[in-house]
Amino acid sequence: MIEASTEIVFNKRVAKNTFFMGFRSEPMVNVAKPGQFVMMRVRSSIDPLLRRPFSICGVNGDVLLILYRVVGQGTAILSEKRPGDLIRVLGPLGRGFAFPGKAVQPIMVAGGMGIAPLIFLSLTLARKDQHFLAGYGISAEVVPPDQLGIVGLSPAIATEDGSQGHHGRVTDLLESVLSNAKKIPSAIFTCGPLPMLQAVRRIALGKSIPCQVSLESTMACGVGACQGCAVRKAPRFDGAYAHVCQDGPVFDAEILDWEVM
Ligand SMILES: Cc1cc2nc3c(=O)[nH]c(=O)nc-3n(C[C@H](O)[C@H](O)[C@H](O)COP(=O)(O)OP(=O)(O)OC[C@H]3O[C@@H](n4cnc5c(N)ncnc54)[C@H](O)[C@@H]3O)c2cc1C
Ligand code: FES
Repeated sequence: MIEASTEIVFNKRVAKNTFFMGFRSEPMVNVAKPGQFVMMRVRSSIDPLLRRPFSICGVNGDVLLILYRVVGQGTAILSEKRPGDLIRVLGPLGRGFAFPGKAVQPIMVAGGMGIAPLIFLSLTLARKDQHFLAGYGISAEVVPPDQLGIVGLSPAIATEDGSQGHHGRVTDLLESVLSNAKKIPSAIFTCGPLPMLQAVRRIALGKSIPCQVSLESTMACGVGACQGCAVRKAPRFDGAYAHVCQDGPVFDAEILDWEVM
């Protein structure tokens, strides 16, 4: 884990309320793994006091990339940063995705900003046979890969209002992919809002497909010190608490107690 003052290289709007930022940190780039995250101090003053967590969306040379949506005070401050500004970053943190074997077809299922860690995973795996499914509310929220400078990644899109791609939910796309790929062993990797994760996990369980979920939770420290990010493990995995920041954010879906999430 590294804590450093890093230089922002770019910070540009790529979709409605959505920004793509790169900051320079060769030491972090050298050790970053898909599924890990960073904690960013958005302002050097004490307000806001807490760092904000963001998934690592990728790396480019010595630049580490994040993709974020403006939802409140911290992300609004972040969106105003300019190239050359300095920002304190702690990371990479947490445990990332376990990579699938060569005979297993990876299926990424993203909801909204859940696309960020799955882009890093997808680019790292660089598998021709992978599926990348991305769900959004409306077309204005859709993040086009070319806006991120990514070539060769073309997610299947679903929007809830039907303004782009499939009219409906990303889980519809997942059902369709799975029904067309009955004989191929698959593994699902998912990140997004909790109801979507629950639905994806139900589909995976119903078809006995391994599923890794990347969870979000409110995080005060990001390093296992505050207990603020505790989630319950399933009773058959001792029912104890796990920390999203240290034991996750990526978990095997079956380890978690979905009844109390
Ligand atoms: C491991 C991890 C990885 C994340 N990766 C990304 C990412 O790649 N891109 C991205 O846009 N966001 C990501 N988030 C969520 C991001 O951290 C929050 O959106 C951000 O902290 C909100 O800060 P704020 O000060 O703007 O909002 P606040 O003023 O703190 O909150 C504004 C609103 O956002 C909600 N919110 C706050 N924190 C979270 C959270 N952790 N998850 C969901 N909703 C939250 C609040 O409930 C509130 O409604 C991640 C969170 C975690 C835990
Ligand atoms: S965020 Fe503090 S223990 Fe996880």
